[in-house]
Order: sequence, then structure tokens, then C-alpha cells
Amino acid sequence: MMSSLTNEKDGATFTCESEDTILRAALRSGYGMAYECNAGGCGACAFDPVSGEFESLWPDAPGLSPRDLRKGRMLACQTRAKGDGVIRCSSAADYVPPIRPARRRLTLVGTRQVTHDMREFRFKGEGAANFLPGQYMLLDLPGVKGSRAYSFSNIANDAGEWHVIIRRVKDGSATRVLFDELREGDVIDADGPYGTAYLQTESPRDIVCVAGGSGFAPVLSVLRGADAAGMLGQGQGQGQGQGARKAHFLFGARHVRDICGAEELAALSGFAAAGQFMPVVSEPDEGEAWDGPTGFVHTYLPGLPRPLAEYEFYFAGPPPMSQAIQELLMIEHKVPFGQIHFDRFF
Ligand SMILES: Cc1cc2nc3c(=O)[nH]c(=O)nc-3n(C[C@H](O)[C@H](O)[C@H](O)COP(=O)(O)OP(=O)(O)OC[C@H]3O[C@@H](n4cnc5c(N)ncnc54)[C@H](O)[C@@H]3O)c2cc1C
Ligand code: FES
Repeated sequence: MMSSLTNEKDGATFTCESEDTILRAALRSGYGMAYECNAGGCGACAFDPVSGEFESLWPDAPGLSPRDLRKGRMLACQTRAKGDGVIRCSSAADYVPPIRPARRRLTLVGTRQVTHDMREFRFKGEGAANFLPGQYMLLDLPGVKGSRAYSFSNIANDAGEWHVIIRRVKDGSATRVLFDELREGDVIDADGPYGTAYLQTESPRDIVCVAGGSGFAPVLSVLRGADAAGMLGQGQGQGQGQGARKAHFLFGARHVRDICGAEELAALSGFAAAGQFMPVVSEPDEGEAWDGPTGFVHTYLPGLPRPLAEYEFYFAGPPPMSQAIQELLMIEHKVPFGQIHFDRFF
């Protein structure tokens, strides 16, 4: 059954398929509803129901504060409309999807161990894989309640390949299925692309990427995208980028055994010519051979060669890391918000 929702704030109306959450329906129809994680964690998609009937798929989602709950607010990424209705939500042109998200069936065609607890999963679907570097998709896994967001690690391609890099989470319900049950040839439901932290090909600034743990995936996609667009190098690149930008990639690992990336980055000619890879280890284990930088990865940002306000930033990983980087960049170094692109992995 199809229903129709109107945002009282701006009068915009969009249609909802019955299986879609309000957020997915809005973005699918090209409406820029505010959001970030699509996973119930951040609260960016909170809305006020005005009239109509709504069904929450996850009433205890952490994205709703006690105050939101008292005011009857709901999360658009965890709510379905049961018929026509009116809501009050935030929206902006920045959220209008550059590529409309769509549902598709994907087949697992291969895996590769990246570190002791991170694995690349390669899926294939019908037609071309169309997404921007740094975006993510939502996967529905058999027996797992709710969808899970996973960032692409590759770039758009005509072969229909959708790659992700996933860290095994202790007692995690989706990662248990992915690591222990899913076999090559198995088919799952996916929906995407989503996300606003994608590569800005028009920006003339040097690029700084920061990844914490599995935040490696979107950052690798951004650097692969920059390389493919000829944005990196010493001035002799082709295409939109003209190849004059440098890239710095800071990888925050807890232990030495968590570090990855050198091999993938070495395969990018632009990064090899104009890139710097700096792994930072926060808790080197006794007996681990490590004479590189230690501590929290964000503390190394002020050591970059240029004033921080002159860079374009991309980062992904655990919410505390993202919070620390945002504060450092926006409050201490006055980096304009438009130059900061990030995903928090709830
Ligand atoms: C934008 C984004 C991009 C991400 N990209 C990556 C990536 O590239 N690689 C990676 O390893 N991880 C990524 N994550 C994290 C990933 O989505 C999962 O949270 C993680 O794999 C743990 O899932 P789990 O089910 O194993 O763990 P669990 O601890 O079982 O579940 C954790 C997460 O599942 C969701 N959840 C739990 N219960 C429900 C419910 N009832 N309904 C709906 N959702 C529920 C919540 O988001 C919760 O944080 C990303 C997260 C976000 C938000
Ligand atoms: S987008 Fe809905 S809680 Fe993050």
C-alpha cells in the first residue's frame, strides 16, 4: 500500500511504499530529509508526528533522547507510515540524494581477510553499481532484526560490484551472520546508496582522511575515488581534479595488529605520488614492535603541514573519535563545516 506524507514545515509531500521507513521513502522520492546514520543512533532524523498513524520499528532506539520521547518525537529511519499523514521534520538541499537509493538483491561473490578481525565482502548485483565514494548501503541479514549500515570500500563500476569492509563485533548479531554463516553464492537484500559524507570532486583543497577501525572502508573509497578522478598527484592529472592535490591518511588503530591500508594505498598511483599514510596506535600491547606514533589519532592533525582550515576532511569510525575530531577542527581550528565530511559508526 502506498501512502502520502506532508512536511508541515515546508509543505513538501512525498510518497511512501509500505515496507519503507519514512526516511528511506523521502530520500527515494528525492526529498532532502535530514539524516545521518540511517541506523537509529544519531537522532538527526527525529520528527514530530502531526496527524496520521505511525509504527515504530525500534521504540528503544538510542537516537531518541528522554526529552524527545516525552515530546512524542519519532525517528524517521525507524518508523513506517500506516497511511497518509502530516509530520514536522528538518530538511535541506544538502540531503537531497545525488543518486536515488534503490533496493536490490546482492550475491556474495568473494571475501578477503583484511586484518585479524576485518574482512572485505564483495557482493554483486544486476546492472551497474552506482554510488559516490564514501557512501554506504543498508543490508538485511537473515534472522537479524533491523538493517545494518556498511560503507562501500570500492568505487562505482559497471560490473555491479558492491564491496564493504566489516569488523567483527563481539556478540554482534549482524556480524555473526556475516562472518560465520554467509557463504559465497548466498543472496541478501540491500538498499542504497545513502550518506552525505562523499568525495567533493570540485574542491581544490588537499585531502585529509582519518579512519578509526572499520572506518577504513569509506576512507579507502574516498581515496580510490580521488585517484580515479585524477585529483591526486603533482599537477599532471586528468579530469575534474587536475591532479594537483595531496592526500594525508591517518589511521587510528588500537593495536599494531589492527593496522591496515598500506597495500591498498600503494595500488593508487595518485596516492603513491602525493599521499602520506600515518598509522597511529592508541594502545600498543606489551611485546608489540612499534616505534611509530602512539595515542589518539586526532592529536596528530595539528602537525599537518598547512593550517587545518585549508584542507577538505573525511573521517569515519566510532562516535567518540568523530566527536574529538569535530571539536578539534571546528572549535580549535575554525575549519568551515562545509569542509568536514564524516560518518559515525553507531
Ligand atoms: C553510516 C554507518 C556506516 C557504517 N559502516 C560500517 C563499515 O563500513 N564497516 C563496519 O564494520 N561497520 C560499519 N558500521 C557499523 C555497522 O552498521 C554495525 O553497527 C556493526 O557491524 C555491528 O553490528 P552487529 O549487528 O554485529 O552488532 P550489534 O551490537 O548486534 O548491533 C549494533 C547495531 O545494530 C543496530 N541495531 C541494533 N538493534 C536494532 C534494531 N532492533 N533495529 C534496528 N537496528 C538495530 C544499531 O545500529 C546498533 O548500533 C556503520 C554504521 C553506520 C551508522
Ligand atoms: S538518521 Fe535516524 S537516528 Fe540517525
